[in-house]
Amino acid sequence: MTMREDSPAPRSPHRAADDRDPELPYPNGWFALARSRELTPGRVLTRRLADEDVVLYRTRDGSAYAVQPYCPHLGAHFGAGGTVEGRNPMCPFHRFAFATDGACVSTPDGPPPRARVDHHTVRERNGFVLVWRSHDSSPPTWEVPDTAPAGVTPTASWATNIHAHIQELTENTTDLRHLPVVHKVTIWKVDPVRADGPYLHTSLRLGPDGPSLLRKIQWDHTFLLAGMGCLRIELPLPTLGLVIYLWVMHIPTGPRRTRLLMATGCADIQPSPHARTALLRYPVHRAIARSMLWTAVHKVRDDMRIWNTKRYEPRPRLTSGDDAIGFYRHWARQFYPAS
Ligand code: FES
Ligand SMILES: [Fe+2]
Repeated sequence: MTMREDSPAPRSPHRAADDRDPELPYPNGWFALARSRELTPGRVLTRRLADEDVVLYRTRDGSAYAVQPYCPHLGAHFGAGGTVEGRNPMCPFHRFAFATDGACVSTPDGPPPRARVDHHTVRERNGFVLVWRSHDSSPPTWEVPDTAPAGVTPTASWATNIHAHIQELTENTTDLRHLPVVHKVTIWKVDPVRADGPYLHTSLRLGPDGPSLLRKIQWDHTFLLAGMGCLRIELPLPTLGLVIYLWVMHIPTGPRRTRLLMATGCADIQPSPHARTALLRYPVHRAIARSMLWTAVHKVRDDMRIWNTKRYEPRPRLTSGDDAIGFYRHWARQFYPAS
């Protein structure tokens, strides 16, 4: 199930300071340009990454690829009607075909020219197609981890576009002060933020604000950030024997523009070895994932009011309680070119 996407964020009248904002570069890393289920065999999709188009395609045998958009013959855009013939992406203009290593391998009426198209490195993890992006086109220096057990993928998703740099969105994970103010939740427990190279780990126990009855509800949230692109929140429900996965994927699409792709999935903590039981549980998992997505979208809309109107503060005046933000900013530096 895919909820209808929001239209692009309107440019806010409060953004008069926009042009004076210090510009952050695009970070290196893995970015989820699509859900795996969108890219069916033979399909071609165009997505935006770091102010450039990237064309995704899936061959008939099921492998996903990402290619730069322009054909070396006469410059047609592969996303404007390109097709996949077997394992070969084909240009919509004169039907030159390319191999998945980039070489032009055939034309309809003669030998192919010595030409090639550059491909991006792609990984598929937990139902997402992720593309590696680096400022100097160098190969990946780290891998996208599995963010849920094998076979657990999103069953619901929603996406929108935000008027802010990607770093501002991921910073939210370490901004504890905004949780009670913006999201109306009580923080019951905080584990210190821990970095492991390109991965950042933390966990929080949160509950709703309100009367004492509500305060009995406390829910552990385990966060894993893999670069700035992938945030996975694991939410166990031990009394129901379930665990919910919430993925918040950030994609830097243009200057101060970030696409936010949220998705949810649900699984049994102890998966049943019997296929029939697993099948019967599936509708329950889908319904829970869907209701979690609605809740998460509701929460993120509160953040959007701030993100779409704020400016980036390169030297924030942090105070006690903001330690994790300082830690995050230091960690985030590894994804930019050394200055
Ligand atoms: S422009 Fe692509 S085949 Fe001619
Ligand atoms: Fe938030």
